[in-house]
Amino acid sequence: MPSELSDLVSDTTPGRGALRPARSWLHSDAPSLSLNGSWRFRLSPTASAAEDFAAEDFDDRGWDDMAVPSHWVLEGDGAYGRPIYTNVQFPFPIDPPYVPGENPTGDYRRRFELPAGWTDAERVVLRFDGVESLFRVWVNGVEAGSASGSRLAHEFDVTPMVRPGGNVVAVRAHQWSAASYVEDQDQWWLPGIFRDVTLLARPVAGIEDLWLRTGFDSGRGHIDPEVVADAAAFPLTLRIPELGIEQVWATAADVAPLDVAEVAPWSAERPRLYEATVSNAAETITQRVGFRTVEIRGDQFLVNGRRVVFHGVNRHETHPERGRVFDEEHAREDLALMKRFNVNAIRTSHYPPHPRLLDLADELGFWVVLECDLETHGFHKVDWAGNPSDDPAWREAYLDRVRRTVERDKNHPSIVIWSLGNEAGTGSNLAAMSSWVHARDAGRPVHYEGDHAGEYTDVYSRMYASVPETEAIGTDDSRVPLLNCTPAQGARQRTKPFLLCEYAHAMGNGPGAFDQYEALVREHPRLHGGFVWEWRDHGILAKAPDGTLYYAYGGDFGEVVHDGNFVMDGMVLSDDTPTPSLHEFKAVVQPVTFSFEGDKVAVTNLRHSADTSDLRFRWRVEHDGTLVESGELETPVVAAGASEWVPLPPVAVAPDAETWLTVEAVLAAGTAWAPEGHVVATAQLDRSVHRPVPAVRIRPDWQADTGRLTLGVAEFADGSLVRLAGRAVSGPRLELFRAPTDNDEGASDEVDDGDAAVPGVSNADLWRRDGLHRLTSRRVGVERAGDALRTLDKVSAADSALFVMVESVWTLDGGELELRVEIEPSSGWRTVWPRVGIRLSLPDGTAPVDGAEWFGLGPLESYPDSLRAVYTGRFSSSVRDLAVDYARPQETGHRSELRELSLTSGGTEVLRVVALPDTRGRRPGFVLSRHTPQEIAGAGHPYELPASGTTHLHIDAAQHGLGSRACGPDVRPDFALRPESRTLRLRISAPR
Ligand code: GAL
Repeated sequence: MPSELSDLVSDTTPGRGALRPARSWLHSDAPSLSLNGSWRFRLSPTASAAEDFAAEDFDDRGWDDMAVPSHWVLEGDGAYGRPIYTNVQFPFPIDPPYVPGENPTGDYRRRFELPAGWTDAERVVLRFDGVESLFRVWVNGVEAGSASGSRLAHEFDVTPMVRPGGNVVAVRAHQWSAASYVEDQDQWWLPGIFRDVTLLARPVAGIEDLWLRTGFDSGRGHIDPEVVADAAAFPLTLRIPELGIEQVWATAADVAPLDVAEVAPWSAERPRLYEATVSNAAETITQRVGFRTVEIRGDQFLVNGRRVVFHGVNRHETHPERGRVFDEEHAREDLALMKRFNVNAIRTSHYPPHPRLLDLADELGFWVVLECDLETHGFHKVDWAGNPSDDPAWREAYLDRVRRTVERDKNHPSIVIWSLGNEAGTGSNLAAMSSWVHARDAGRPVHYEGDHAGEYTDVYSRMYASVPETEAIGTDDSRVPLLNCTPAQGARQRTKPFLLCEYAHAMGNGPGAFDQYEALVREHPRLHGGFVWEWRDHGILAKAPDGTLYYAYGGDFGEVVHDGNFVMDGMVLSDDTPTPSLHEFKAVVQPVTFSFEGDKVAVTNLRHSADTSDLRFRWRVEHDGTLVESGELETPVVAAGASEWVPLPPVAVAPDAETWLTVEAVLAAGTAWAPEGHVVATAQLDRSVHRPVPAVRIRPDWQADTGRLTLGVAEFADGSLVRLAGRAVSGPRLELFRAPTDNDEGASDEVDDGDAAVPGVSNADLWRRDGLHRLTSRRVGVERAGDALRTLDKVSAADSALFVMVESVWTLDGGELELRVEIEPSSGWRTVWPRVGIRLSLPDGTAPVDGAEWFGLGPLESYPDSLRAVYTGRFSSSVRDLAVDYARPQETGHRSELRELSLTSGGTEVLRVVALPDTRGRRPGFVLSRHTPQEIAGAGHPYELPASGTTHLHIDAAQHGLGSRACGPDVRPDFALRPESRTLRLRISAPR
């Protein structure tokens, strides 16, 4: 017989005793008492420890202290268990609604003094803003109730239990419960009281709930208020001083819509808020209102009558030390970072964030898709058998979740779409949630990606659709069937606005192809952009055995099942560093674009509604990367959606250097998220005169030769380079391998590039199969001709008949040393190559190579399908800073389109390389690193990289693109590197 306890832990209903209906998270002046702080705490391995701890006089002196809010697994250095990371998998048997007996259970206790005067309150309410996963609560030994819905607020009426003076509150939180089946989001499992606990004194005649719905139409605002209060609370007064509004509602019947003339609208670009109060003698609620109207017209999603394009990110609540505990300062800085990188939208994947986050979003300006706390993805493994989404036993829990979601946050102008949850299959409970939302809030559409057939949602949403598929949706190409849709269902979906709730999986180095998606969005009005997966890595700060700090991912805490580093897929690293992908995103979605024609440039404003009056425009001219002139570009104010032609300044073109004109749009004044001068948009124009590339001099007089030889700064022994500019070197050797990126390791099925990769097999596996990481070389010949040396090598891998012939020709011409490398693959290579180029290794000696200065694309790393954030210029960096610290070491640091490179040691140049373009004008890139690709590929975390005594210089004739195949499409064919002949030409010299 099931006991009462297992009944509770396996209860599919949302708990007993919490106050319903849920209400808004209001800013009220009614008294409140934070119960955050230190609580007494005990962890039990099962859910069945005695309940006597809830008694008032229980002796908890033997217990520990635990911070509230916190997750117990992140406290006490492992004393209370460890975090678990899984993506889709359930970390317990799929046996719904049951969970194992091994169910870590945290008991909490604390004392509090009921403030004097609270005995006059009508009610005393105890609010929990977040407890994972199921909890029960007692006050002075009397049970107030239980609740599940970890990322949702739950309130309990504790009036009968509290008394003047000292009180004891006790909480029991179970890590696992039936609710865990519907909270299977891709993130760490982090139990505990992780959001605020607050005691509220609800005044007699107080305002229980308030909703100031707003609208905006043709310059006029509209407020449609809803008040939940007893008759005794009236009269109530609504005041918006800035708008001269003072509206008295004598009774509930007087609460009626009002029009507001002359009001500025709210938008993510100009987040204009007006402070409103609703008050009576007992209570004042303060709320910032923003006027905006959300609507769907045909296949367009509009705010204030204008189409919205989401340049969004998926945002989880995650912090390397605090987990999902909210840190307002950190969150505000994160949102400011988003604004600086042209992010204009947030999907709160996959649950409501801390309520303050929405205040910040209102204030800083974001379009928000607010998602309910719901995901049952683990049922995918059993073909969705038993999925709660279609099981009546769960209906009430689903409805409770969505009611709590909408009610808590309904006042925020930033929220423009409600999302039912994520990856919960489909079923009648989801449809019921949607109906409830539609009835409750006619002012915002409903989203849920899993409603593939479009039966109960208002927008068509997909994740990781490829570029061609997205295009087919944009062009209404009905020959392309829509995922899981019959033709009729597809036809219905094609009538709706489309968004990508997730795309461009930003795991490790990547993604590629942001620009291809953006190009489609600009062309097809039905496409409303999307939300990159995802904003930041979820690394947890941990200590390696040798004491080194690092960011842990799945498996680092000894989990039984886990999903490795799939939790490290953000555009921001765990330590807050923006990755190159965030820079790429910023450049691709920049709200102002420039197109050059002759002596003028068209400045186009792609914003939703804001004009360019907040921007200044400036220009600069550089010769071979050296600044020669700069100034302001006089630009008229450009309205949203408009273009203006602006004359360019006269550009001084250099006869013997490259001439580049750069224009930028910068903030004319500081904002809440960036200082004056912050660059919002950039473009470059190449004004260089064409200069021919010196021809290769063919020498007829080659003769076999060995022995020692010096050619300029190069010294050879038996045909092998041994010193360059007086430094020991080894190489050049052919390098075809790169330490696989997470996308290279991906085997996502959505491969739309037939032969570049075999579906289900990662490129990295194919490269390892072909032995690209373990090439060997056989010298075929060494010849001399005057002051020239030629070697021929056959490079291949064990147990493979595939090979690459490498001819290296060193010549000294007029004192100038040139190395030309001809790389010719045999026939029969069937995969793409990660890279094709050479590696020169420079042991440290007395002056380690620790820096680089270059003229080419920079300052960031770039790859063929991620090239938009970089520009042509002269840059410098330490070797350390050339690499990005991806959580799992992988290919990083490639700088494209190299012209000149100086290697430096302690700031002094030690070697100079000039790269000539090949006959098709293609220029090589370079990677300068303290580790070989093979060493990098062998490390699971940065601290596992071996100590290095060598700097390795790669000159890559080409690199393969990045793609998004860690979860999504592979590299597009245009950016895939197919085995083919390549030529490198390098002029090498000692410092001048
Ligand atoms: C999606 C899912 C996200 C995340 C992503 C991959 O399917 O909605 O939560 O798991 O894949 O990182």
